Amino acid sequence: MKRSLALAAAALLTVSASSGAPGDPSGGDPYFPGQGNGGYDAGHYDLVLDYSPSSNVLNGIATIKARTTQELSRFNLDLTADLDVSKVTVNDAPAAFSQGRTELVVTPTAALASGRAFTIVVEYQGRPKHVVDPDGSRGGWIRTSDGVFNANEPQGAMTWYPGNHHMTDKATYRFTVTVPSTRMAVANGDLTSRKTTGDRTTYVWDVKEPMAGYLATVTVGKFKLTDTRIGKYRTIVAVDPKLADEAVNLAERHAPVLDYFASLFGPYPFSSTGAIVDHAPNVGYALETQSRPIYDEVPSEWLLAHELAHQWFGDSVTPSRWQHIWLNEGFATYADWLWQDKIGERGLQTSFDTAYAIPAKDAFWKTPTADPGGPAALFHDRVYNRGAMTLHVLRSKVGDTAFFQILRTWTAEHKYGNADTRAFIALSERISGHDLSDFFADWLFKPGKPAL
Ligand code: ARG
Ligand code: ZN
Repeated sequence: MKRSLALAAAALLTVSASSGAPGDPSGGDPYFPGQGNGGYDAGHYDLVLDYSPSSNVLNGIATIKARTTQELSRFNLDLTADLDVSKVTVNDAPAAFSQGRTELVVTPTAALASGRAFTIVVEYQGRPKHVVDPDGSRGGWIRTSDGVFNANEPQGAMTWYPGNHHMTDKATYRFTVTVPSTRMAVANGDLTSRKTTGDRTTYVWDVKEPMAGYLATVTVGKFKLTDTRIGKYRTIVAVDPKLADEAVNLAERHAPVLDYFASLFGPYPFSSTGAIVDHAPNVGYALETQSRPIYDEVPSEWLLAHELAHQWFGDSVTPSRWQHIWLNEGFATYADWLWQDKIGERGLQTSFDTAYAIPAKDAFWKTPTADPGGPAALFHDRVYNRGAMTLHVLRSKVGDTAFFQILRTWTAEHKYGNADTRAFIALSERISGHDLSDFFADWLFKPGKPAL
């Protein structure tokens, strides 16, 4: 389920029918050139993992169902060299492979025809290490006192499983994770089985809706797990016992937020919801892991709303390039403003006015929202608050009816897919019937504080 970046490149290459051509080692994203790979499109990951928190040893077997998008002699998967690959097969036949710092290069015995389904199996083991993101924060496999806090935006997925880790290649997942029975493994989607053999327990989690790799999580630790249907939602909440006192009613807090957002943005896109709350003093952020956000502390109302809003904006509809991150963060911020307004915590206009009051000479206004300048700026205030302000001003220009029609059409037309800023502008103009080019130029593309 990846937009075929490789097609144009493949057309330019003259390949002999028998040998094919190597897949592009890059997904083509200027912010993270090494992320993602061309030549194939992953459809399903079946990850069988065995993890021991005390030694940090991970054993993995990744079975990836994919389809070629060109005649393919060789292809890459993203995986850090902290993990040792011991065996790779392609369609059950042993394949040659080599490992670079963040790339696993696989050469099947014979080139694969274009447009063909194939299966890759990678066996690997090692002690995963977290990555340090360009903004200085930790990501990926982040060890805690009792396991691992696993958050992968933007580039952590390569620290624990091989894959096509650009967000345009979404896939379904099954995680089968074995841990010591004193611990639990909590992932995205639906818990479908839990079995104890001896002193180890195996958890199976199924993700039936397409998911980008940066939204996957397999978090391990001591947890108190509740799995209940509340209103329309299967709500699975895992709370670190250290934080249990503050987490009262956490499961019950989900349905009202989801119902409100569903009334504004369209139906909730996933088969279950919930939260993973894991005490992790070295993390410092929460993440909208698909269907089940992960928090390093018990979330406040605005943070809970923020991560749940991302399920529509970010998880179901995902940007096609990292530079369009305001489509995630600006939208989730506007949604958390709406929720704070709804519950009487802070008025919407106050949220806007407070953000807009930043003086024009402040660095906040320097960088345009639609391209915050590079990977270190992905999660800067400018993206969140200027993005949210953009939506608020858009709403005042087109009116409430058209505004929410735009948001609902956005989530419906791009459900489980990817989209970019241009598509949002075109949709806004189509639905409102207004020429919005000056407005969007001021708010998204030009540096400087836009006049109201
Ligand atoms: N998307 C997350 C949120 O807004 C933030 C992730 C921060 N990640 C990072 N590497 N700094 O909730
Ligand atoms: Zn966010």
